[in-house]
Amino acid sequence: MITTALTRMFELEHPLILGPMGGVAGGRLAAAVSNAGGLGLVGAGYGDPQWVARELDLVGELSHRPWGIGFITWSTAPELLELALARKPAAVMLSFGDPRPLGARIKAAGCRLICQVQDLAGARLAHEAGADLVVAQGTEAGGHASRRATLPLVPAVANLVAPIPVVAAGGIADGRGLAAALMLGAEGALLGTRFYASDEALGSARAKALIASASGDATARTTVFDIVRRLDWPPGYDGRALRNRFMGRWQGHENELAGALASENPAFLDAVQAQDFDTAMVWAGEAVDLIDAVEPAAEIVRRIGREAEIALARGAALCRYPN
Ligand SMILES: Cc1cc2nc3c(=O)[nH]c(=O)nc-3n(C[C@H](O)[C@H](O)[C@H](O)COP(=O)(O)O)c2cc1C
Repeated sequence: MITTALTRMFELEHPLILGPMGGVAGGRLAAAVSNAGGLGLVGAGYGDPQWVARELDLVGELSHRPWGIGFITWSTAPELLELALARKPAAVMLSFGDPRPLGARIKAAGCRLICQVQDLAGARLAHEAGADLVVAQGTEAGGHASRRATLPLVPAVANLVAPIPVVAAGGIADGRGLAAALMLGAEGALLGTRFYASDEALGSARAKALIASASGDATARTTVFDIVRRLDWPPGYDGRALRNRFMGRWQGHENELAGALASENPAFLDAVQAQDFDTAMVWAGEAVDLIDAVEPAAEIVRRIGREAEIALARGAALCRYPN
């Protein structure tokens, strides 16, 4: 069993957190991850209060272990946070924006504050916000993120915010990645894409099948899916998705797309409804190379935990000291 500051904080059996993927990480998936000994976070996404209330009630019902929720900071109304805090999550994660205003309320409610950051400036804000845990998210990640790569970002953030524990995110989908994260000075890993390809994830079976068959070469970061959905993301963030025909058409022609929204926006929303993934996006990270099946979330948690133990033991065996 691997014991770290993360496992001690939430009494986990494995140092793993479910990324709060909007529209994908609902109550069922979060409960499955928590019940298997990780920390499940529901993804509040852009904040539909009815959806959030329903999924939090579900995780509360299905889970007998600590669970939490993640918000997209810049799009989160204080009332939505109150709705979540009333359901007593063990942790609230804030990502993408200044965590200090909402963070103060989370701390005042006696809840653990997790801040996901993409660079050192974000890590400083997380420190100021009083984060209990900082997730250093590299550009390899599926969905929204920024420019820094996981390998150098994680130890830099760990140095900067010490003694606050750090968790690595972006490009981790097996036990080797978890073991590597621990060697970088992280106390665990937060995984999104790997859990998207799980039985309990919300989202279409076709999207999950695409993840299970895709190569990391076929992912790219882009703003075109935000532009076409009229989502006003702050500068510096874009999303990693599987390349598809829509991305091929508009990547590099973003201004043209912004001028064509009268027709492109409704057509795109229709494609989302129809699960037409030549047009609609499948958010996915570079670690799709390591995913070849849709599996129960509990199996994913336990396997990655076991694989990491083996990888760490193998690493220790590399060291030979002369007497
Ligand atoms: C489908 C999908 C949706 C995501 N949605 C969110 C979100 O709503 N809020 C958030 O903080 N992070 C979101 N993320 C990013 C995750 O929190 C996490 O940083 C990322 O998945 C880690 O990289 P990985 O995908 O390589 O495991 C999303 C990721 C994916 C794959």
